[in-house]
Amino acid sequence: MDPPPRRLAALLLFLLLAAASPAARAWKKDEFRNCNQTPFCKRARTRAPHSLDAPLSLAAGSLSVGPDGSISAELSHPSRPRPLVLRLSALPPDALRVQIDEHYSVSTPPHRRFYVPDVLLPDIEARTLHLPEPKTAAGVSTVALSSDLEVVVKHDPFELTVRRARSGDSVLSFNSHGLFDFEPLQESKPEGETWEEQFRSHTDTRPRGPQSITLDVSFHGADFVYGLPEHGSTSLALRPTRGPGVEESEPYRLFNLDVFEYLHDSPFGLYGSIPFMIGHGARATSGFFWLNAAEMQIDVLAPGWDAAAAPANERIDTLWMAEAGVVDAFFFVGSEPKDVIKQYVSVTGTPSMPQQFAVAYHQCRWNYRDEADVDGVDAGFDEHDIPYDVLWLDIEHTDGKRYFTWDHSAFPNPEAMQRKIADKGRKMVTIVDPHIKRDSSFHLHQEATEKGYYVKDATGNDYDGWCWPGASSYPDMLNPEIREWWADKFSYENYKGSTPTLYIWNDMNEPSVFNGPEVTMPRDALHYGDVEHRELHNAYGYYFHMATADGLVKRGEGKDRPFVYQELSLLEVNGADVGGFFGNPEPDLLVRWYQVGAFYPFFRGHAHHDTKRREPWLFGERRTALIREAIHMRYSLLPYYYTLFREASVNGIPVMRPLWLEFPDEKETYNNGEAFMVGSSLLAQGIYEEGQKYVLVYLPGKESWYDLRNGSPYKGSASHKLQVLEESIPSFQRGSTIVPRKDRFRRSSTQMVNDPYTLVIALNSSKVAEGELYMDDGKSYDYQQGAFIHRRFVFADNKLTSFNMAPDNLGNKKFTTECVVERIIILGLSSGAKKAIIEPGNREVEIESGPVSLRSGSSSVVPTIRRPNVRITDDWTIKIA
Ligand SMILES: *[C@@H]1O[C@H](CO)[C@@H](O)[C@H](O)[C@H]1NC(C)=O
Repeated sequence: MDPPPRRLAALLLFLLLAAASPAARAWKKDEFRNCNQTPFCKRARTRAPHSLDAPLSLAAGSLSVGPDGSISAELSHPSRPRPLVLRLSALPPDALRVQIDEHYSVSTPPHRRFYVPDVLLPDIEARTLHLPEPKTAAGVSTVALSSDLEVVVKHDPFELTVRRARSGDSVLSFNSHGLFDFEPLQESKPEGETWEEQFRSHTDTRPRGPQSITLDVSFHGADFVYGLPEHGSTSLALRPTRGPGVEESEPYRLFNLDVFEYLHDSPFGLYGSIPFMIGHGARATSGFFWLNAAEMQIDVLAPGWDAAAAPANERIDTLWMAEAGVVDAFFFVGSEPKDVIKQYVSVTGTPSMPQQFAVAYHQCRWNYRDEADVDGVDAGFDEHDIPYDVLWLDIEHTDGKRYFTWDHSAFPNPEAMQRKIADKGRKMVTIVDPHIKRDSSFHLHQEATEKGYYVKDATGNDYDGWCWPGASSYPDMLNPEIREWWADKFSYENYKGSTPTLYIWNDMNEPSVFNGPEVTMPRDALHYGDVEHRELHNAYGYYFHMATADGLVKRGEGKDRPFVYQELSLLEVNGADVGGFFGNPEPDLLVRWYQVGAFYPFFRGHAHHDTKRREPWLFGERRTALIREAIHMRYSLLPYYYTLFREASVNGIPVMRPLWLEFPDEKETYNNGEAFMVGSSLLAQGIYEEGQKYVLVYLPGKESWYDLRNGSPYKGSASHKLQVLEESIPSFQRGSTIVPRKDRFRRSSTQMVNDPYTLVIALNSSKVAEGELYMDDGKSYDYQQGAFIHRRFVFADNKLTSFNMAPDNLGNKKFTTECVVERIIILGLSSGAKKAIIEPGNREVEIESGPVSLRSGSSSVVPTIRRPNVRITDDWTIKIA
């Protein structure tokens, strides 16, 4: 069975950031701390390599294999109050876990450090390999991880390297620059020292003193590093933040913040944080994940930054600084980038499978004002023949920002409103934020107060902060009991006016506190288990989201998959607000945004309430037609997208991919931040300038590519200077692939369920192509018991064959459909083929000429088999005669 929907921590490296949350303020630099104003960061960043006062070394003879198969050892220095415990364990395939914490039994500090619960898969310990005895000689111990990987542990100073056993090539190393430091917890504040920290008008009492951890990690064989969900960066490859020849910048900051109108191309913290990095180069791919929810700052160092180290030939050094927590880190060893992602999801879990509607187009605005407005927008889509699936309501739909309530004058009949939308196969989403209005007549506040469910301030009282409703408190989502209480609030009985077609949007979960330090909660606030907010800050939204998702599963009695959108979605569901949240986009660029947004995994129009209305039909007939076409294209590709979401839910490979994930050997792709892949078959590149005439597009790989609009072929491994067209951004299908589509235009994805398929076959030079289609009921968990269709299409030797890929031992539920294939388009087929024979049945069909898509301007004609009418669920072959 797939794990429950809580495996949200799963991926998303390559996110375009989701929307800023609403607030009528511009980005204010002074409101946020920089590294110099953050003592742990300043201390760590200014330290020279190998200059630590108390460097850690491995205690001689302490290395041993325990009964669970992991290796443990002590790390110490004579001037430290107590040693540290090091634990090394191996997870198949090719992942090493490194844990370091205080040795609590030697001299007990007043507190234990925080381990982030519920992120790693629960069976992780059970999957741990039994490691062999380490071999030690001359202060170096070596442990075999697998037939071709070993860990080399240098004792003094402690240093750890994962390397290939045969070639001796290093892959990842830890502390090779001697910057690993672990500030020990202290019994009490030494005389004359201050632990308090000031930032603007805020005092952080820091009652537990310094406890930061710094470590350096080197990615050998890497030309670039990627990840840290990319911030507001415009380049996919993470630029160095310091070192020779680099304009020094702030480190990449992982600290969830509600930043209004954030800066483009800045390493500052934004709404979400995933401490995962991939290093990639022609020689190696590797990954590093540090499970820690405290503030983290990360430097990417330019070659030569450590003058004493061997020259960095194909190596990238990074420095990781965390305010608190423990070392619970994972080293992932390629060999391909997709292997690293699979190793990552083997510890954190894969993204859960969304409902079908979630993959379609969403319409949102802060705010759709009332029921008449909702009606009008819904009708507008129909009038203009534009499909959409979901209409969203932002904070103003509530009674005074009390979530789970309705503004009864604007929304007197919420159930009838939802039913009316649902009659067209559409859904609605309402926002539910974590701040609860401190209003003694509000039942949620009464209950949370009575039960003691709020996060406490440093003095032990309910923390009282300022957010949309005014004075607000925040449920302590770290506590499983409180999450359960929260989940129950989504029942139809508790959430009055909600119906089964209403889904949820969680926002402001950094958590956002308008009058708090850096617009968030004070670090010395207290959570369940005496955990300080500083220790779990970056995971608060994760637990909040988890509780909400559990609530939607519960309300549907476990039958339906939840849809819960989080501000920075850690799900596979991600994509920028189409049109941008703030300001009014130039109408032509709004069209461009729709054209690129139609390729995002998550496709939603959204806008701030101070912006002009921007429903797709408000910018003149021509632009309406162009936006309609972009959304139609997305709808026709829904079967392909849904298949990709399935792939992500099985092996973690994201829907939206950098080119190098598919073409890891091609150096030209490593620093390409312009184009992206959707799955392994489609490539798209946005147009970001008004009136742009030409665009340079690099198409990777040996194979040809075919323009999605007209089927024109383009050579691979080449840059093409293309004329920019009004009708679409550059987008291509890769030769050797088969993409399933549904080309009939409906009002919503629900209405397409029984529509016939089109298969688009793009042949490569050996006249071969392959593709897949996954399909299920689009909403329930029955697929976990076998209720799905998974087909594989192979075109070879002039013959298209449909195979069943679904194993038949998954359970006793079945999914079936009467859908047929109504059209097969074959790109790259030599002209001259006139007919095809379908088996079984020995039926003859004509091969005609037809357009490659039903979109405007698609004039070119390509070989097309019309109405083969084979059932999508059946095995069959179609042979070109
Ligand atoms: C064409 O595609 C098939 C299937 O992906 C692949 O096995 C074959 O190597 C490709 N041919 C060439 C010339 O690359």
